[in-house]
Amino acid sequence: MVTIINEEIEHYLRGLVPERPGIMTEMERYAAENHVSIIPPEVARFLTLLVHISGARDILEIGTAIAYSTIWLAWAADSREGHVTTIEINDRRARKARENIRTAGLEDRITLLKGHAVDIIPELQDRYDFIFVDAARGQYGWFFEELYPRLRPGGLLVSDNVLAEGRVITPDEDLRHRQKTAARRLRDYLQMITSHEGLETAVMPMGDGIAVSMKK
Ligand SMILES: C[S@@+](CC[C@H](N)C(=O)[O-])C[C@H]1O[C@@H](n2cnc3c(N)ncnc32)[C@H](O)[C@@H]1O
Repeated sequence: MVTIINEEIEHYLRGLVPERPGIMTEMERYAAENHVSIIPPEVARFLTLLVHISGARDILEIGTAIAYSTIWLAWAADSREGHVTTIEINDRRARKARENIRTAGLEDRITLLKGHAVDIIPELQDRYDFIFVDAARGQYGWFFEELYPRLRPGGLLVSDNVLAEGRVITPDEDLRHRQKTAARRLRDYLQMITSHEGLETAVMPMGDGIAVSMKK
Protein backbone atom coordinates (compact mmCIF):
# COMPACT_ATOMS: atom_id res chain seq x y z
CA MET A 1 0.00 0.00 0.00
CA VAL A 2 1.22 3.48 -0.85
CA THR A 3 1.63 5.67 2.23
CA ILE A 4 0.41 9.26 2.10
CA ILE A 5 3.11 10.51 4.43
CA ASN A 6 6.82 9.78 4.39
CA GLU A 7 7.13 6.03 4.98
CA GLU A 8 9.96 6.40 7.50
CA ILE A 9 7.97 8.95 9.52
CA GLU A 10 4.99 6.60 9.49
CA HIS A 11 7.18 3.72 10.64
CA TYR A 12 8.63 5.91 13.39
CA LEU A 13 5.16 7.04 14.56
CA ARG A 14 3.94 3.43 14.60
CA GLY A 15 6.90 2.55 16.79
CA LEU A 16 5.72 5.09 19.36
CA VAL A 17 2.38 3.31 19.85
CA PRO A 18 2.54 1.33 23.12
CA GLU A 19 2.53 -2.44 22.95
CA ARG A 20 -0.96 -3.82 22.28
CA PRO A 21 -2.70 -6.64 24.19
CA GLY A 22 -2.10 -10.11 22.73
CA ILE A 23 -5.58 -10.36 21.23
CA MET A 24 -4.93 -7.20 19.20
CA THR A 25 -1.48 -8.20 17.94
CA GLU A 26 -2.99 -11.57 16.98
CA MET A 27 -5.68 -9.73 14.97
CA GLU A 28 -3.02 -7.54 13.33
CA ARG A 29 -1.17 -10.72 12.32
CA TYR A 30 -4.34 -12.37 10.99
CA ALA A 31 -5.24 -9.24 8.99
CA ALA A 32 -1.78 -9.04 7.42
CA GLU A 33 -1.74 -12.75 6.52
CA ASN A 34 -5.28 -12.73 5.11
CA HIS A 35 -5.11 -9.35 3.33
CA VAL A 36 -7.82 -7.81 5.49
CA SER A 37 -7.51 -4.05 5.60
CA ILE A 38 -7.69 -2.76 9.19
CA ILE A 39 -6.74 0.58 10.72
CA PRO A 40 -3.05 0.82 11.64
CA PRO A 41 -2.25 0.99 15.38
CA GLU A 42 -1.54 4.74 15.36
CA VAL A 43 -5.01 5.37 13.89
CA ALA A 44 -6.50 3.03 16.52
CA ARG A 45 -4.78 5.18 19.13
CA PHE A 46 -6.17 8.35 17.60
CA LEU A 47 -9.71 6.91 17.43
CA THR A 48 -9.69 5.75 21.03
CA LEU A 49 -8.39 9.14 22.10
CA LEU A 50 -11.31 10.80 20.27
CA VAL A 51 -13.76 8.50 22.06
CA HIS A 52 -12.20 9.33 25.43
CA ILE A 53 -12.10 13.10 24.81
CA SER A 54 -15.64 13.24 23.45
CA GLY A 55 -17.02 10.99 26.19
CA ALA A 56 -18.92 8.98 23.57
CA ARG A 57 -21.20 6.19 24.79
CA ASP A 58 -23.27 5.17 21.79
CA ILE A 59 -21.04 4.29 18.87
CA LEU A 60 -21.85 3.17 15.34
CA GLU A 61 -19.30 1.68 12.96
CA ILE A 62 -19.78 1.01 9.24
CA GLY A 63 -17.27 -1.66 8.15
CA THR A 64 -16.35 -4.15 10.90
CA ALA A 65 -14.00 -6.46 8.99
CA ILE A 66 -12.66 -8.71 11.80
CA ALA A 67 -13.66 -6.27 14.60
CA TYR A 68 -10.19 -4.84 15.25
CA SER A 69 -11.33 -1.19 15.32
CA THR A 70 -14.63 -2.30 16.89
CA ILE A 71 -12.88 -3.76 19.93
CA TRP A 72 -10.71 -0.66 20.37
CA LEU A 73 -13.85 1.52 20.23
CA ALA A 74 -15.68 -0.67 22.77
CA TRP A 75 -12.73 -0.59 25.17
CA ALA A 76 -12.49 3.20 24.84
CA ALA A 77 -16.15 3.59 25.85
CA ASP A 78 -16.01 0.85 28.49
CA SER A 79 -15.79 3.12 31.56
CA ARG A 80 -19.10 4.72 30.49
CA GLU A 81 -20.66 1.31 29.78
CA GLY A 82 -20.75 2.30 26.12
CA HIS A 83 -22.07 0.22 23.25
CA VAL A 84 -20.83 -0.26 19.70
CA THR A 85 -23.17 -1.23 16.86
CA THR A 86 -21.16 -2.35 13.86
CA ILE A 87 -22.14 -3.36 10.31
CA GLU A 88 -20.34 -5.85 8.06
CA ILE A 89 -21.44 -7.17 4.68
CA ASN A 90 -18.99 -10.05 4.26
CA ASP A 91 -20.01 -13.43 5.78
CA ARG A 92 -16.55 -14.76 6.47
CA ARG A 93 -15.36 -11.53 8.08
CA ALA A 94 -18.53 -11.23 10.16
CA ARG A 95 -17.94 -14.78 11.46
CA LYS A 96 -14.33 -13.96 12.34
CA ALA A 97 -15.44 -10.70 13.95
CA ARG A 98 -17.96 -12.52 16.16
CA GLU A 99 -15.23 -14.96 17.21
CA ASN A 100 -12.89 -12.06 18.12
CA ILE A 101 -15.64 -10.21 20.00
CA ARG A 102 -16.34 -13.38 21.98
CA THR A 103 -12.64 -13.87 22.76
CA ALA A 104 -12.44 -10.25 23.97
CA GLY A 105 -15.47 -10.89 26.23
CA LEU A 106 -17.34 -7.99 24.65
CA GLU A 107 -20.52 -9.70 23.43
CA ASP A 108 -22.69 -7.50 25.66
CA ARG A 109 -20.92 -4.31 24.51
CA ILE A 110 -20.91 -4.90 20.74
CA THR A 111 -23.81 -5.66 18.39
CA LEU A 112 -22.72 -6.89 14.97
CA LEU A 113 -25.31 -6.48 12.22
CA LYS A 114 -24.51 -8.54 9.14
CA GLY A 115 -25.62 -7.06 5.84
CA HIS A 116 -25.33 -4.14 3.47
CA ALA A 117 -25.03 -0.81 5.29
CA VAL A 118 -27.33 0.73 2.68
CA ASP A 119 -30.12 -1.59 3.86
CA ILE A 120 -29.29 -1.55 7.58
CA ILE A 121 -28.63 2.14 8.35
CA PRO A 122 -32.17 3.34 7.46
CA GLU A 123 -33.54 0.76 9.94
CA LEU A 124 -31.49 2.09 12.86
CA GLN A 125 -33.70 3.87 15.39
CA ASP A 126 -30.96 5.05 17.77
CA ARG A 127 -28.90 8.24 17.84
CA TYR A 128 -25.12 8.07 18.21
CA ASP A 129 -22.36 10.11 19.85
CA PHE A 130 -19.67 8.74 17.57
CA ILE A 131 -19.88 7.27 14.07
CA PHE A 132 -16.88 5.64 12.41
CA VAL A 133 -17.21 5.11 8.66
CA ASP A 134 -14.69 2.61 7.29
CA ALA A 135 -16.41 0.76 4.41
CA ALA A 136 -16.88 1.20 0.65
CA ARG A 137 -15.46 4.67 -0.01
CA GLY A 138 -17.65 5.24 -3.06
CA GLN A 139 -20.70 5.13 -0.79
CA TYR A 140 -19.57 7.67 1.80
CA GLY A 141 -21.78 10.39 0.29
CA TRP A 142 -24.84 8.15 0.46
CA PHE A 143 -23.97 6.95 3.98
CA PHE A 144 -23.68 10.59 5.07
CA GLU A 145 -27.27 11.44 4.10
CA GLU A 146 -28.50 8.65 6.38
CA LEU A 147 -25.91 9.08 9.12
CA TYR A 148 -26.12 12.82 9.68
CA PRO A 149 -29.63 12.72 11.21
CA ARG A 150 -28.51 9.83 13.43
CA LEU A 151 -25.56 11.76 14.88
CA ARG A 152 -26.30 13.72 18.05
CA PRO A 153 -25.34 17.42 18.20
CA GLY A 154 -21.76 17.57 19.51
CA GLY A 155 -21.18 14.05 18.19
CA LEU A 156 -18.28 13.03 15.98
CA LEU A 157 -18.34 11.53 12.51
CA VAL A 158 -14.97 10.00 11.66
CA SER A 159 -14.42 8.98 8.02
CA ASP A 160 -11.47 6.74 7.21
CA ASN A 161 -9.42 6.28 4.01
CA VAL A 162 -10.51 9.63 2.59
CA LEU A 163 -7.25 10.24 0.71
CA ALA A 164 -7.34 6.85 -1.08
CA GLU A 165 -3.56 6.37 -1.09
CA GLY A 166 -3.22 9.86 -2.54
CA ARG A 167 -5.52 9.21 -5.51
CA VAL A 168 -7.72 12.18 -4.57
CA ILE A 169 -4.99 14.41 -6.01
CA THR A 170 -3.82 12.16 -8.85
CA PRO A 171 -4.65 13.59 -12.32
CA ASP A 172 -7.59 11.71 -13.92
CA GLU A 173 -5.50 10.58 -16.91
CA ASP A 174 -3.22 8.59 -14.55
CA LEU A 175 -6.12 6.64 -13.00
CA ARG A 176 -8.10 3.65 -14.23
CA HIS A 177 -11.84 4.19 -14.77
CA ARG A 178 -12.98 2.81 -11.38
CA GLN A 179 -10.25 4.65 -9.51
CA LYS A 180 -11.24 7.86 -11.29
CA THR A 181 -14.86 7.47 -10.19
CA ALA A 182 -13.84 6.62 -6.62
CA ALA A 183 -11.41 9.58 -6.43
CA ARG A 184 -14.08 11.96 -7.78
CA ARG A 185 -16.62 10.70 -5.23
CA LEU A 186 -14.14 11.13 -2.40
CA ARG A 187 -13.26 14.66 -3.52
CA ASP A 188 -16.98 15.48 -3.62
CA TYR A 189 -17.41 13.93 -0.16
CA LEU A 190 -14.50 15.90 1.32
CA GLN A 191 -15.75 19.10 -0.29
CA MET A 192 -19.20 18.45 1.17
CA ILE A 193 -18.15 17.65 4.75
CA THR A 194 -15.61 20.49 4.91
CA SER A 195 -18.13 23.09 3.73
CA HIS A 196 -21.28 21.68 5.41
CA GLU A 197 -22.72 24.35 7.69
CA GLY A 198 -23.80 21.79 10.28
CA LEU A 199 -20.28 20.39 10.72
CA GLU A 200 -16.79 21.39 11.72
CA THR A 201 -14.33 19.17 9.91
CA ALA A 202 -10.57 18.62 9.94
CA VAL A 203 -8.87 16.25 7.49
CA MET A 204 -5.66 14.60 8.59
CA PRO A 205 -2.95 12.83 6.58
CA MET A 206 -2.82 9.89 8.96
CA GLY A 207 -3.17 6.24 7.91
CA ASP A 208 -4.92 6.58 4.56
CA GLY A 209 -6.43 9.95 5.45
CA ILE A 210 -8.93 10.49 8.22
CA ALA A 211 -11.61 13.19 8.42
CA VAL A 212 -13.01 14.18 11.82
CA SER A 213 -16.29 16.08 11.75
CA MET A 214 -18.20 17.43 14.73
CA LYS A 215 -21.93 18.06 14.40
CA LYS A 216 -22.70 21.57 15.61
C1 LIG B 1 -11.43 -1.32 5.73
S1 LIG B 1 -12.42 -2.67 6.23
C2 LIG B 1 -12.90 -2.25 7.87
C3 LIG B 1 -11.77 -2.34 8.83
C4 LIG B 1 -12.16 -2.19 10.28
N1 LIG B 1 -12.95 -0.99 10.51
C5 LIG B 1 -10.90 -2.11 11.14
O1 LIG B 1 -10.18 -1.12 11.01
O2 LIG B 1 -10.64 -3.03 11.91
C6 LIG B 1 -13.92 -2.35 5.37
C7 LIG B 1 -14.99 -3.40 5.62
O3 LIG B 1 -16.22 -2.85 5.18
C8 LIG B 1 -17.00 -3.89 4.64
N2 LIG B 1 -17.97 -3.22 3.75
C9 LIG B 1 -17.74 -2.62 2.56
N3 LIG B 1 -18.86 -2.10 2.06
C10 LIG B 1 -19.83 -2.35 2.96
C11 LIG B 1 -21.22 -2.08 3.02
N4 LIG B 1 -21.83 -1.39 2.04
N5 LIG B 1 -21.93 -2.49 4.08
C12 LIG B 1 -21.32 -3.17 5.09
N6 LIG B 1 -20.01 -3.48 5.10
C13 LIG B 1 -19.27 -3.08 4.05
C14 LIG B 1 -15.99 -4.78 3.91
O4 LIG B 1 -16.49 -6.09 3.73
C15 LIG B 1 -14.79 -4.69 4.82
O5 LIG B 1 -14.73 -5.80 5.71
